[in-house]
Amino acid sequence: MSESATGVADLDAIADVAARVARVLPAPLVPLFHPGFTRSHLLFDEYVARLAIQVCARAKLEPVLSVWGAVEDVVARAALEPRRSAVAVGWMLRHLAARGLLVAEDGPGGPRFRAARPLPALDPGPVLDEQRRHDPACLPSYTLAETAAREYPAFLRGERSGEEILFAPARLPLWTGYFSNDNPLYAVNNRVGAIALEAWLPAGEIRILELGGGLGSGAAAALERLAAAGGASTVRAYRFTELVPAFLRRAQRHLLDRLAGVTDLSFATLDMNRPFGEQGVGEASVAVVYAVNTLHVAHDLAFTLAEVRRVLEPGGRLVVSECVRPVAGQTIYPEFVFNLLETFRAPRLEPGWRPNGGFLTPGQWTAALETAGFADVRVLPDIARVREVFPTFYAAALGATRPA
Ligand SMILES: C[S@@+](CC[C@H](N)C(=O)[O-])C[C@H]1O[C@@H](n2cnc3c(N)ncnc32)[C@H](O)[C@@H]1O
Repeated sequence: MSESATGVADLDAIADVAARVARVLPAPLVPLFHPGFTRSHLLFDEYVARLAIQVCARAKLEPVLSVWGAVEDVVARAALEPRRSAVAVGWMLRHLAARGLLVAEDGPGGPRFRAARPLPALDPGPVLDEQRRHDPACLPSYTLAETAAREYPAFLRGERSGEEILFAPARLPLWTGYFSNDNPLYAVNNRVGAIALEAWLPAGEIRILELGGGLGSGAAAALERLAAAGGASTVRAYRFTELVPAFLRRAQRHLLDRLAGVTDLSFATLDMNRPFGEQGVGEASVAVVYAVNTLHVAHDLAFTLAEVRRVLEPGGRLVVSECVRPVAGQTIYPEFVFNLLETFRAPRLEPGWRPNGGFLTPGQWTAALETAGFADVRVLPDIARVREVFPTFYAAALGATRPA
């Protein structure tokens, strides 16, 4: 594969990879994963790895890696705040080890890491420049990751929480740019979700409840696709919910401008960590619960799935679009930013299917859904097959049915 100065393959070489991915994807997904998108994905992967190297240097992790150490040892030697840092530092060490930049071995209490040679001084700037030339629509992802990288040392030292860093009011524009159908690197989750929703929608007149709808880009993609598809289902009501009032207000403005055709579009706050009934969603009252990149931040996923099951009509469907971890232990780039957030990195763990915070594997999702009493669990696409040709593919939808 021919590569540019950033080490990322050029468009012609990527066409071959994209063609191999296309052969293992269901037909409706193929247009999403075109060579241009694939190149942006690989560029951003490289950008985040370079940011992680910079964070290791700025947080003084690199010198303490001259001898073997488990994550806790590395955190302690670098005098970082242990409770907050363990997940993020563990992620960076595993991410860099997966790229051959650190060495890792199994230790008694988990993996141990060492820098066999100095980390390369790779400048993220040229990757950003290449993305700007290739497809500037992806730049909001770069801005968000660069902001996180800049703030990481203060976070790791315990001086600022991730919530303070990422949700300061002045940072709202970061999110409006990032959670957008104009940002291809995020929009792919909305489009995979919309395709799954269309494919798995029960027939007839239906009511949909969306959880954690954020700024509304997932809802817009879904409702636009359903309207264009026609089909055997009619969306009679769409209840958009979100935890953060500022996100909800913006989503409401955005969606009402675009989706006046949906008969009953309503907006409300809903915290998926609290009983849905006391927040106005009755038992067996909706045909579909939909969520894009939200359920993995449920504090107690078993509780939230039980609430979802309760509000679904018998035979009703849960459809979620999620970043999934291709295999247990693998690191994927969205975690670099979201590991800053306690809700992301530290949910309640469950033996068997929730061994860590952050994203779940398709197998862990299947176990979580089946344990919660759902049937007919589906995953789109078959991540295990896609991974054989593209190891960092992480966009997937999951579906499950409340038994009748
Ligand atoms: C990845 S974002 C979803 C973005 C959305 N799909 C969009 O297009 O803007 C996850 C959302 O979950 C919300 N969230 C976090 N905790 C929540 C909770 N306990 N209940 C409901 N929503 C929550 C966040 O505020 C955020 O908007």
